[in-house]
Amino acid sequence: MANRSVWSDNRFWQRSAAWVTGFASVLLIWLTFDTSAQISMGTAQDLADGVTKRVPSSTVINYKITYEMDTARGHEVPVIGEKELFFGRDDWSEEEAGALLHLGKLGSQAKNCMNCHTLLGNGAYYAPDLTKAWLDPAWGPEGSLQAMTGKNTKEEAMAEFLQHPSQYPTHERMMPNLGITADEAKGLVAFLKHMSSIDTNGFPRNFGKIKGAVHGK
Ligand code: HEC
Repeated sequence: MANRSVWSDNRFWQRSAAWVTGFASVLLIWLTFDTSAQISMGTAQDLADGVTKRVPSSTVINYKITYEMDTARGHEVPVIGEKELFFGRDDWSEEEAGALLHLGKLGSQAKNCMNCHTLLGNGAYYAPDLTKAWLDPAWGPEGSLQAMTGKNTKEEAMAEFLQHPSQYPTHERMMPNLGITADEAKGLVAFLKHMSSIDTNGFPRNFGKIKGAVHGK
């Protein structure tokens, strides 16, 4: 008994298991609360006060969003700027903007965008990731897609594309017409604009390499 090594002692392993389980439980509980805090949506007041949240309020659709390099973090982050019109208004209330986003989310599920695209990294790889699609310079004032649709704003160009994608092919792969209505398209564009404002730690990595995607580059 006196010579038995600690490594072959049952009680040692039992105690170790209890400590490791206890420590891991505390860590997981802490991580759960930390993550919930990080991903909980900000409020309209936060936006008005310039408080940065990883997931801003739905009312972010009333603001201009740019993509900028954060040298300290080593990747690009969405930056929320001045007010800007979205379908002719810059005063969408939290309730109205929330309803629009909800419509977009339901539309994205009903039409199964993830069957071809990835959203925040989830989905299929047939078509481009949509996380930052709103910030794609192709939809901007000098962009090829905006020009192709003949519309004068980003949101109208995108909504027009979503309703009749097969009229505006740009790739070797074409997006099929999915029977998206004008209202659904509006909701989807709001959904995409909000998604582009989420701080995703620079995901997707290759998006910032698109010419003109990153502000001032
Ligand atoms: C059957 C496959 C398929 C489905 C389903 C689909 N798409 Fe697409 N989508 C594509 C393809 C392919 C492209 C590239 C087309 C092109 O550039 O000409 C595309 C392009 C796009 C673009 C332009 C990307 C950019 O560069 O900004 C947007 C925005 C978009 N889709 C949104 C959606 C939304 C929103 C849904 C769901 C409502 C959806 N798509 C469902 C195949 C699909």
